[in-house]
Amino acid sequence: MRQPYVTVALIVGLLAGGVLLAGSAMRLRLPGNQQGYAPEQPIAFSHRLHADELQIHCQYCHSAAGESRHAGFPAADACMRCHKFVTASFNVMQKEVQKADAEKRQPLPVVSDQLRKLYDAMGLNEKLEPSGDSPSPAESLKPLRWVRVHNLPDYVYFDHRAHVAAGVTCQHCHGPVESMQTVEQFSTLSMGWCVNCHRDATAHGVQGKSVDASLDCATCHY
Ligand code: HEC
Ligand code: HEC
Ligand code: HEC
Ligand code: HEC
Ligand code: HEC
Repeated sequence: MRQPYVTVALIVGLLAGGVLLAGSAMRLRLPGNQQGYAPEQPIAFSHRLHADELQIHCQYCHSAAGESRHAGFPAADACMRCHKFVTASFNVMQKEVQKADAEKRQPLPVVSDQLRKLYDAMGLNEKLEPSGDSPSPAESLKPLRWVRVHNLPDYVYFDHRAHVAAGVTCQHCHGPVESMQTVEQFSTLSMGWCVNCHRDATAHGVQGKSVDASLDCATCHY
């Protein structure tokens, strides 16, 4: 008996939402398919380099994926675990070491343009020390604002934890991220995409385990 009410309320809500959506220039998400969307990021961060060549695990940086609704983005601190020492590509750093050796002097620090943006965001100067020229270092921080690639409409409920726990791989939904220089939206994120997988997963299981991925409207809609 509950279902028709949920559905009617949902459709009325969506119609109202649609009007708001059309009238709001704030929404970046266009109606329809955003497959292939690959916005430019504030730092040219490469998954191919970090996740494939350097073999860093997805959840080293997206540690919330197994625990919460959102996979989340790594804080600049997580980058600094390595970039405190790696201030440019190995090739460039190596060249300076050789040059300094030949010239019998100490190697100078080399900082790549892209990593300079990371240090700026952390308020670090040329020596990678907190810059003292500002009254409070916190004021000079320019937080990294990653541009979201995936954007479900507000009326859809999605939860990473349930999928990760059921054994669905990141790549099943996001594609071969480890081969991407710039992340792009791999799947359609349409309702059909979600529902078809829920039907398939319930019928055939995920990695040999049986699952119960619901098709109820209220599973994915508030
Ligand atoms: C060294 C840290 C790091 C590792 C390792 C990493 N990521 Fe990321 N990931 C990021 C950062 C930073 C962003 C935001 C910038 C961007 O989109 O490239 C991001 C963005 C993403 C996005 C886009 C999210 C959105 O909608 O905006 C997806 C999907 C993603 N990562 C999946 C993965 C997967 C899958 C793996 C493992 C194969 C992985 N990441 C490994 C740091 C990392
Ligand atoms: C069942 C499909 C599915 C799986 C599996 C999945 N994701 Fe996602 N991911 C999505 C969807 C859908 C969104 C957009 C969510 C939204 O807009 O609220 C998303 C968004 C993201 C984002 C953007 C930030 C956020 O949390 O909204 C990151 C980063 C990300 N995923 C990384 C990962 C990583 C890493 C894994 C594996 C550990 C993973 N995802 C597994 C479907 C999936
Ligand atoms: C586990 C270590 C590690 C972590 C964590 C890490 N990186 Fe890196 N990153 C590296 C290494 C090593 C290189 C240099 C590889 C090479 O020689 O080209 C690199 C290269 C880069 C470069 C290219 C530098 C250039 O100009 O050539 C950028 C940009 C970058 N990382 C950004 C980030 C950001 C942003 C984060 C955090 C989201 C991050 N990295 C996290 C190890 C790491
Ligand atoms: C790769 C197949 C797949 C795709 C694609 C997929 N799901 Fe799922 N979904 C599952 C599985 C498997 C489960 C876990 C069922 C279980 O725990 O028994 C699940 C569970 C869920 C749950 C239940 C969470 C809970 O707390 O019980 C929600 C909500 C959900 N999915 C929403 C979505 C939405 C929204 C989309 C599309 C944006 C989506 N799913 C796409 C396979 C998928
Ligand atoms: C497994 C998750 C899931 C389930 C179950 C689900 N939906 Fe959806 N629904 C979505 C997603 C994701 C979208 C957003 C599609 C988009 O942005 O293109 C959506 C969009 C919609 C829309 C907006 C119009 C459209 O098609 O884009 C309506 C109406 C709708 N759903 C109704 C329903 C009804 C009624 C049910 C139950 C019979 C239901 N949904 C069950 C995930 C789901």
